[in-house]
Amino acid sequence: MNLKGKSFLKLLDFSESEITGLLDLASEFKDKKKKGIPHKICDGKNAALIFEKTSTRTRCSFEVACADLGIHPVYLDPKSSQIGKKESIPDTARVLGRMFDGIEYRGYGQEIVEQLAKYSGVPVWNGLTNEFHPTQILADLLTIREHFGTLKGKKLVYMGDARYNMGNSLMVGCVKVGMNFTACAPKKYFPNEELISECQKIAEESGSVLSFEEDPEKAVKNADVIYTDVWVSMGEPDEVWEERIKDLSPYKVTSHLMEKAGEQCRFMHCLPAFHDLKTTIGKEIYEKFGIDSMEVTDEVFESEKSIVFDEAENRMHTIKAVIAATLADNL
Ligand code: CP
Ligand code: NVA
Repeated sequence: MNLKGKSFLKLLDFSESEITGLLDLASEFKDKKKKGIPHKICDGKNAALIFEKTSTRTRCSFEVACADLGIHPVYLDPKSSQIGKKESIPDTARVLGRMFDGIEYRGYGQEIVEQLAKYSGVPVWNGLTNEFHPTQILADLLTIREHFGTLKGKKLVYMGDARYNMGNSLMVGCVKVGMNFTACAPKKYFPNEELISECQKIAEESGSVLSFEEDPEKAVKNADVIYTDVWVSMGEPDEVWEERIKDLSPYKVTSHLMEKAGEQCRFMHCLPAFHDLKTTIGKEIYEKFGIDSMEVTDEVFESEKSIVFDEAENRMHTIKAVIAATLADNL
């Protein structure tokens, strides 16, 4: 695997061996971190971390990973920079490229990270766009590999809005590594035709089975992982809540669905999750629509089948692997 100087914008740009190579590197870093073995292999470098949308896991993962690798991170929050408002993306990219060795971007359209990469001349890492969330998928794959010992042939069912960043990227990630992927939702929430046909071609080579199902009980049969995400993503208008709740409530991950899948099945979620009333939005939705959880019940979220916190931890180890693979002089 030689990814030095390369950007990490979407998994479609990477081969299976590059993806598994990044997972191996993440495992190595995880082991070193647990044993207290220093690994400042990018000492003296600088990274810009641009967040046009809020974040807990991704921001903290990038900051901790940078510190562990010896990189100085500079965080730019959604309000305090000139980006997009007073300065175009190509101009911003050319400025930041003169100061930083790498740039993380979380925000809106995929074309923005693509432009940042084109104009900055340094590796750009996608920390989430509307279309893709590739660093999340690396953490998910590492977690699945740790729990099942393998990726090949494992079946992941994604319940909910599969047209957005998580559904899209999980579909790509699964077919790249030979996992079977099922999107389960009403038809209008399936990924777009163009991406499906691209993934179908990859699936033919990797041996993955790709399927789309409207019936949750049929979809989850023999699933190794049931995965879900929020029904309304960052940047979407509040007006869509009502329709999403109506459309996606039958796709809420419940104990009944977990049992239908079988004993082997684990629950995953990129987080944050609406599984109780301990959040402001959760409470608002309860007052308006009378539901005490959305995409997953509290029972499933808190159950032994739920591996969401292993998954969250792996964000940091996998992000560290991406940074090191694209920046380190001697890996
Ligand atoms: N899963 C994820 O990207 O979390 P944050 O929004 O907290 O970064
Ligand atoms: N689909 C969610 C993912 C959050 C990690 C969003 O874009 O808000």
